[in-house]
Amino acid sequence: MTQPQPSHTTHTPGRVRVLTGAKPTSELHVGNYFGAIRPAIEASHDAGKEVILMCVDWHGLTDRSKILEPGKYTAGLLATYLTMGFSLEKNMIVLQSEIPEIPEIAWYLSCVSAVGLLERAHAYKDALNSGKEPTAGLFNYPILMAADIVTFDAQVVPVGKDQSQHLEYASDMVKLFNNAVGRPVLFEPKALIQETPLLIGIDGERKMSKSYGNHLPLFAPKKEIEKRIKEIKTDSKGLDDPKDPETCAVFQILKSFASKESIAYMEERLRTGTGYGYGHAKKDLIDEHERVFGCKRELYEHYINSPREMAQLLTPSHNSARQLAATVRQRVRDALSLGIL
Ligand code: AMP
Ligand code: TRP
Repeated sequence: MTQPQPSHTTHTPGRVRVLTGAKPTSELHVGNYFGAIRPAIEASHDAGKEVILMCVDWHGLTDRSKILEPGKYTAGLLATYLTMGFSLEKNMIVLQSEIPEIPEIAWYLSCVSAVGLLERAHAYKDALNSGKEPTAGLFNYPILMAADIVTFDAQVVPVGKDQSQHLEYASDMVKLFNNAVGRPVLFEPKALIQETPLLIGIDGERKMSKSYGNHLPLFAPKKEIEKRIKEIKTDSKGLDDPKDPETCAVFQILKSFASKESIAYMEERLRTGTGYGYGHAKKDLIDEHERVFGCKRELYEHYINSPREMAQLLTPSHNSARQLAATVRQRVRDALSLGIL
């Protein structure tokens, strides 16, 4: 059951505030583009939405052995969203570790959350069950995530099914906090569970993932892209046999990012079969990858190599985010009667 929401909010009338989190923990691939990057970019062009895209680098630190990864991959993540057309006009790109209000609000949330709630979190339980020694960071992960959301009065949070428990926890924490202080202070977010299917990898077997080594990168050198696409596993149907696009990894990968025309063209040619083998399909996939990502490789490299320029581009976002976070922080501190100045 939803509770009354706070009367003082920071929302813009006519616009829903959507918050999405992206973890900078590996080199991005076409699966990430399909499942996370493109939807956020499309939302940034929707007049009815104000998107806060948060690069959640603190969330990437919870595994001690990978603690250097977020620092390494943040620039690539930010550059990818900018290169592929995320609009900063009425939206923000925020780097989590630049917002000190988040850990402060996380502390308040931790003081209303039972340890048992965190002990039941899937990621923590999985780590225990697989014999790992979870860090306190992993244990506290759901609190930090709830803090990301409430610090910006987020209304809608689109996430995959694997994150639905975290969103339930965020709602629970908001209720616990509001009940503890006796009035609605924090905004309760709505989870929007994404049903996006998982994109298959170049092995034609498992979901595309960097950890399986079956991924197709976005901005790698053309030669590498060609090599990876040529490696895509297909069945042994001949040049003139009709082929099923649904079971063809080349087509599935194309479909995840290509233009409508290119998708319709390959689908038709595969179904008909005549004179269109998997070699042709791979050549078409290489061309389409070059058209969508390859031609932006230079811009991407430019951003990566000009961190100051990227920082400048993101400064207005950062300033707006800090202002917003400061407003919510003050609201929370007032509710707790904290501070003497
Ligand atoms: P990861 O870093 O693997 O957790 O991926 C970050 C996000 O990218 C996920 O939450 C998904 O939204 C998206 N993603 C990653 N791999 C795939 C895939 N194979 N198919 C669709 N979406 C994916
Ligand atoms: N836990 C999310 C994931 O692994 C990332 C995340 C952190 C997030 N903070 C968030 C997602 C806030 C949405 C909103 O994918």
